[in-house]
Amino acid sequence: MPQLNRSRSETRRERLSNPDNYPWLAERMRATVDVARYREAGLPNPVVAGRYLGDLAAELGAVSLSGGTIGDMVPPDFVRDAARDAVDSYPHYPGVGGYRDLRQAIAAKLERDNEILANPEEELLPAIGCQQVIDFTCRILIDPGDEVLVFDPEYASTEPAVHLSGGRVVPVPLHWNGRDWRFDIGALERRASARSKLLIISNPSNPTGIVYRRSELEAIAELARDHDFWVFADEEYEKTLFDGVDHTSIAALPGMKERTVTGFSFSKPYAMTPYRIGYVVGPAPFIDHFHSLLRFSVQACPAVAMRAAYATLTGEMGPWLEASTSNLQAKRDELVERLEALPGITCNRPQGVYFVFPDVRGLGLTSFELARHLLLHGQVAVAPGSSFGEVGEGHLRISFCPALETIREGMDRFEAALPG
Ligand SMILES: Cc1ncc(COP(=O)(O)O)c(C=O)c1O
Repeated sequence: MPQLNRSRSETRRERLSNPDNYPWLAERMRATVDVARYREAGLPNPVVAGRYLGDLAAELGAVSLSGGTIGDMVPPDFVRDAARDAVDSYPHYPGVGGYRDLRQAIAAKLERDNEILANPEEELLPAIGCQQVIDFTCRILIDPGDEVLVFDPEYASTEPAVHLSGGRVVPVPLHWNGRDWRFDIGALERRASARSKLLIISNPSNPTGIVYRRSELEAIAELARDHDFWVFADEEYEKTLFDGVDHTSIAALPGMKERTVTGFSFSKPYAMTPYRIGYVVGPAPFIDHFHSLLRFSVQACPAVAMRAAYATLTGEMGPWLEASTSNLQAKRDELVERLEALPGITCNRPQGVYFVFPDVRGLGLTSFELARHLLLHGQVAVAPGSSFGEVGEGHLRISFCPALETIREGMDRFEAALPG
């Protein structure tokens, strides 16, 4: 094991883990680092664990199989040129609502790809990535104490956004059938009630790779109408689909447009994570308040990113997307095969998103201990399943978006460092 200077990671973990260090901390912020259900289950708080493992990986110079950026493709020339040109051609503050041509291009894409009809002046806005859409949607819809249905496992930044709005997370377990992850409508039916204000769903689902079928979304939509709750659909990975599966937007289903907010992004589909640009579509009265929050917080999205986004929507992205998809699918298959060959691991083959979420309980460590062990003994970073919810415990999230050489190097280290 290398000689480590782990002072920063360990010091910060200690500081974050002890609420006494923050007597002045607002309750909502405190709720992000001290979630009772994790404490009671003996699992590390996801926010603290994520920060600690990230610090440790940086200190060790680890190979990362935990990230979420495509590592071997950049957007096409015409997209990057649009960003460069914007530096000279757009020298002023953009309007809060961004550029009209961008909003119109978004509306055309929503109609074409998502079957969502949206008025570009009233029902959609650009945003700083889908991340900002999650945050603003929670702030706009959730009152302190409101129940928010969140799948478990779910994208790790979702639950903190609910806590920051004072909401109460009601976890809805997804089902691991020993080979794959599945949506279980019964689990949702048992938890949905008149107290539910909002359901948050990532589709395709990070980290499980579930791509919800239309019939499953129809069942969810029926519950939303019966119990009168809102749906926030995080469709960040709408284009990251394998094996020929289709993606359906829940907002396109009958009676759903008026109770659904959908977040989209350029980050994952087009390798544009550094641009920080996405968009939201929802009912006009909701979008009015989204507009206010944009104004009060960041004023507007960056011009450079919006011009690149416009180029993406109006240019020919088809061949790039096809190349990216087949590249990701080949990397998925190689990663799944390598993991499946290891004793103590059963790996899913996700049809969406670019992560696998295998069962590693056979290795005998908790997911956090295992992720830490792999860092310390192999200098390879993966994400512990407990960072995505209690049901994620016993699994690891491993990315196949890095370049193939990085995946191979990471997996060589992973195998060499396995415990036992
Ligand atoms: C499911 C999901 N939603 C939203 C985001 C936020 O991404 P961005 O703000 O870059 O669009 C991510 C990023 O990893 C994600 O995985």
